Amino acid sequence: MLRYTLTDHPLIQHKLSLMRDMNTGSKEFRELVSETSMLMCYEAMRDLPVKEVDIQTPLGIAHSKVISGRKLAFVPILRSGLAMTDGVMNMIPAAKIGHIGTFRDPETTGTVGYYCKLPRDIADRATVIADVMLATGGAACEAIRLAKEAGCTDIKFICIIATADGIAKVNETHPDVNIYCAAVDDGLNEDAYIVPGLGDAGDRMYGTR
Ligand code: URA
Repeated sequence: MLRYTLTDHPLIQHKLSLMRDMNTGSKEFRELVSETSMLMCYEAMRDLPVKEVDIQTPLGIAHSKVISGRKLAFVPILRSGLAMTDGVMNMIPAAKIGHIGTFRDPETTGTVGYYCKLPRDIADRATVIADVMLATGGAACEAIRLAKEAGCTDIKFICIIATADGIAKVNETHPDVNIYCAAVDDGLNEDAYIVPGLGDAGDRMYGTR
């Protein structure tokens, strides 16, 4: 059985439909990725621990709550995860940001991490790794592996569109990592693109094709 959380709020579904539309241009596509990521981050942070505090308001003491526990780190996977950064950082502005880049080795067909720059204290932080598409699961698994190698023990993975195979691979390789996605699509084509998906997310957001 696949383990993931579908963040299917109507606002997210609406924005996803606009992203899928091949007539949506780069500027609007980037804005939609950012807005959707903000809404997904809001849902994914639902279980953040809070502690009770007494706050002096102008009229008295309010028994209130603030987020407690670990500080946060956000790690987009290059390239498309980059466009998720603004939206996520709107929700968790104190988070530190790392970056991970991966590529698919055509000889071994394995995924290789070629870039990894993480906050120095990431081992002490709850970490959110993000990519727009969870296709084969190769990039996600490699990014999670690199974060764990740096000491992370508390990791969530946020993506916008996933496949069942991608989710299964992350579930099997990293059973401790919770996955949040807005849609699970049919599968992959022969070029490992998600169908129907939204095309190449990096190309669509940066106009590179
Ligand atoms: N990466 C993309 O940008 N799109 C896909 O469909 C799969 C991986």
